[in-house]
Amino acid sequence: MKVDVLLGLQWGDEGKGKIVDVLTPHYDVITRFQGGPNAGHTLEFNHIKHVLHTIPSGIFRDDKINVIGNGVVIDPCIFKKEIDSLLKLGFDLKKTLFISKKAHLILPTHRLLDAASEAAKGDAKIGSTLKGIGPAYRDKIGRDGLRVGDILLNFEEKYRIRVKQHTDLLSNYYHFDYAAALADYEKAWFEGIETIRQFQLIESETFINNQIKAGKSVIAEGAQGTMLDIDFGSYPFVTSSNTITAGACTGLGIAPNKIGKVYGIFKAYCTRVGSGPFPTELNDATGQKLRDVGHEYGSTTGRPRRCGWLDLVALKYAIMINGVTELIMMKADVLDDFDAISVCTKYKIGGVLTKDFPYELDDSVEPIFESIPGWKKPLTGVTSESDFPEELNNYISYLESQLGVPISIVSVGPDRSQTIVR
Ligand code: GDP
Ligand code: IMO
Ligand code: MG
Repeated sequence: MKVDVLLGLQWGDEGKGKIVDVLTPHYDVITRFQGGPNAGHTLEFNHIKHVLHTIPSGIFRDDKINVIGNGVVIDPCIFKKEIDSLLKLGFDLKKTLFISKKAHLILPTHRLLDAASEAAKGDAKIGSTLKGIGPAYRDKIGRDGLRVGDILLNFEEKYRIRVKQHTDLLSNYYHFDYAAALADYEKAWFEGIETIRQFQLIESETFINNQIKAGKSVIAEGAQGTMLDIDFGSYPFVTSSNTITAGACTGLGIAPNKIGKVYGIFKAYCTRVGSGPFPTELNDATGQKLRDVGHEYGSTTGRPRRCGWLDLVALKYAIMINGVTELIMMKADVLDDFDAISVCTKYKIGGVLTKDFPYELDDSVEPIFESIPGWKKPLTGVTSESDFPEELNNYISYLESQLGVPISIVSVGPDRSQTIVR
């Protein structure tokens, strides 16, 4: 058996949570491989709407195993809140959720360092979700991190050493007043550590490889999106992990030759939350219409998402980096009421037209658009491909011919049921 990967091809919030939940019946094991509670993955079914941050989106299907892999960073306090709110819905995850001992912990001081670093950057800030992601991964790479496995032995002692390093940095470098916030957060954080202790803490790389050997099917759920990847995204306005297919190998401990299908998921238009370049952004009434119709407000922070047209130059680049084998187009219904839909097919940089993704998406990048007729019919009630308006079929064919990869699923609403498999 192979591991299939599902990941975002844009700047996150493509609808990964919804589709992992839809695909879960086809899989035995659902895994997260990177990121942390900066993610907000929304699922809707049977009148329940739920946002997951750290926990894989397979959790609402009873007989499935869910694994938080070594590449993930966990904030125990947020994890506990997630577990408690799922318990209220009647989902007790103690038997179905496994956590890698090698996953790193986000410390209370990582959150404070995130806030201090963003404040120090002023106008150049990343627009981080302020969940402590950057500082936690910085400590991981700097070999100063604390891992889930550390909670099993002399944890308090190891914790205090790290916190001392962080508070020195906060006071001496950032001149950041941390004392009250730290005291506030620490109590809830240690309660979260006790919650983590109640779960099955495992060598998840061995566990997952054994599952594969035993013929079980595995899906890896990406967080963020390719344009936020630490190596290939719009650096430095990115997150601090590898959000791409290769990240599933390092974030789960599976070999590259174990990767099977790669589902690349994208919105029929484009959004971004936080700072950084966005060539097709619309700062006008059309952008506002996309935001209103698509309810484009962050699932984690509630911030309004920046909206714009689909960018095929960036999308093709993302398909290349990830080795996408199937595309999934989300939120087609948001375009129901547009006479014409624009798509960026080229960039003009310094007077020269190009389809190549440049080193930087700076202000010199001008998007060049083609216009496609809209369908002007509601899609939310459509239940099969045969009901698609002709203009939607044309839009799909146009994108497939431009991108060279089939679009196998079209999503026409937030609910599990509003998913058309082609
Ligand atoms: P993720 O981070 O990739 O899992 O995506 P988010 O959950 O942050 O954002 C996607 C948003 O779009 C959520 O509010 C979903 O409920 C919603 N959504 C997903 N698919 C569709 C769709 O096809 N149509 C509409 N209108 N909303 C959708
Ligand atoms: P999901 O998994 C959208 C963005 C932040 C910021 C940048 C760095 O729901 O798609 P960080 O908190 O990682 O330091 O923020 O990345 N960002 C996301 N944008 N969806 C996400 O996750 C994101 N996770 C981080 O807004 O611009
Ligand atoms: Mg999200």
